[in-house]
This record gives sequence, structure tokens and C-alpha cells, in this order.
Amino acid sequence: MRDPGAAALPGGAEAVRGNLGDPDSLVAAVRGVERVYLMWPGLPVDPRVLEVITEQARQVVYLSTDVADLADDEEPTWSHQAIERQLRHSGVTWTFLRAIDFAANALRWANQVRRGTVRYPYGQAARSLVHERDIAEVADRRRHDGVAHLLTGPAALTHVEQVRIIGEVIGREVRWEEMSAEVAQEEFAAARGGRRSSWRAGCGPGSPSWTPRSGSPTRWSGCSAAPR
Ligand SMILES: NC(=O)c1ccc[n+]([C@@H]2O[C@H](COP(=O)([O-])OP(=O)(O)OC[C@H]3O[C@@H](n4cnc5c(N)ncnc54)[C@H](OP(=O)(O)O)[C@@H]3O)[C@@H](O)[C@H]2O)c1
Repeated sequence: MRDPGAAALPGGAEAVRGNLGDPDSLVAAVRGVERVYLMWPGLPVDPRVLEVITEQARQVVYLSTDVADLADDEEPTWSHQAIERQLRHSGVTWTFLRAIDFAANALRWANQVRRGTVRYPYGQAARSLVHERDIAEVADRRRHDGVAHLLTGPAALTHVEQVRIIGEVIGREVRWEEMSAEVAQEEFAAARGGRRSSWRAGCGPGSPSWTPRSGSPTRWSGCSAAPR
């Protein structure tokens, strides 16, 4: 962790300092470590970081995303593919957890839910959310070496459906207010100090970047949209 003092970990777990943007900072952090659960933040991929980890660990469980398998002569289009490839060739025992959107992404609406109205674009965009505890449970299982798991929730839910369900669970009416993508772009850019994010949005199984290559496509339908 970059700041072990800020860690909220269960008793018995020790937080150590390490920065995934600084390979040297990891040398001491991974000394003597046999199993690694690797989450890669939005940093450029530095092969040296993975070398430091795989020189120590004999097993790496990597939190990936719903990327396609690539042949070794194909250029990776996602950082996750580059990391998967390096791990596959590193000699460690690996498992890839290709998760669809995390359930905690819905926390982006928390303040609006408290106020009773969620205003957001792409109400009909649907994704199959997976709970972080479910990812942790799969990560903790043994005997899935050399496997890339596609992790989805039980159903694809539109944004509108997600907000309705949140309202039902907390016992309060929460309205959905559709926002146009153009207005959303402007408002989110303003909130980020003018930095515009590119929206990615895809619909249905024909959308090339979002067609799942493994798992059950029927659990993964509809559209997706998220600011990046
Ligand atoms: N969000 C999703 O729906 C989703 C779905 C599938 C896959 N994924 C993948 O899961 C990964 C994490 O996504 P996320 O949405 O959880 O990202 P995130 O919210 O940005 O989380 C980043 C985490 O990385 C830590 N971090 C950031 N920079 C670091 C550094 N230099 N060294 C060490 N730790 C650092 C942060 O901890 P501190 O700030 O406390 O240091 C934070 O806990 C990504 O690879 C993403 O593609 C995400």
C-alpha cells in the first residue's frame, strides 16, 4: 500500500508500504511472500514491477477485466492483456479473475440517492455487476491454476433498474432522471477541472470491445456506459 497507516484491514493482516509505480519500493514489500493477489491501478504497465513480484511469489492471482485472450504475436490493447501475458510467461502459477463491473461502482450515486434523485446518462445501459466479496471468495479458492475466470453477477441490470433496487432496499423512493450524454460530458469535465473524459458505451453482443469471449454471454447483455 502507498500509505499503510490508512489501511482498514482485519485483525491479523499486516499492511506494508509499496508503490506499484515504483518497482524498487516493492522489493522489501514482497520479500518472503509466496502468494500475491495483484490489483493494477490505472498506471502504465511497468514490466519490472511484475518481475519483482514474480521473482518472489510462486502464485499470483490477478484481478483482470473482461478482456479477450490474445495470441503472443498480437499487440495487447488493454493493460490487463499485457499483464496477463507477462504473468503467463513468468513461470509462476497464475489465475486471472476477469471481473465485470464492481457492485461498489454504484457508490458513485450515493449522494444523489440520499437526495432522492439520481441524475445520470444512459439509463438503459446494463451491466452484470459482481460484488467485491464474491471476487475475494474466488480469489481465495485453490486449485484454479492456469485458469481465466469471467466473473459476473447473476443478471445484467440497467442503471434505471439498479437505482430502483437501491431504493427498494433502503425503503425510500429514488427517482431516475435521464441526463443527456452531452450534458454529462460537460458536467463531469467541469467537476474534473476541465479534463474531459471519453465515454465508452457499447450495446449488445455485437459491440466488439465488449463481447465476452468466455463465460455465459446470456448473463451479459445490453449496453454499457462509463466515464473514463
Ligand atoms: N471498477 C470496476 O468496475 C472494475 C471492473 C473490472 C476490473 N477492474 C480492474 O480492477 C482494478 C482496480 O480498479 P478500481 O476501479 O478498484 O480502481 P481504483 O478505485 O482506482 O483503485 C485503485 C486502488 O489502487 C490503489 N493504488 C493506486 N495507485 C497505486 C500505486 N501506485 N501503488 C499501489 N496502490 C495503488 C489505491 O489505493 P490508495 O489510493 O489507497 O493507495 C486504490 O485502492 C483495475 O485494474 C481495473 O481495471 C475494475
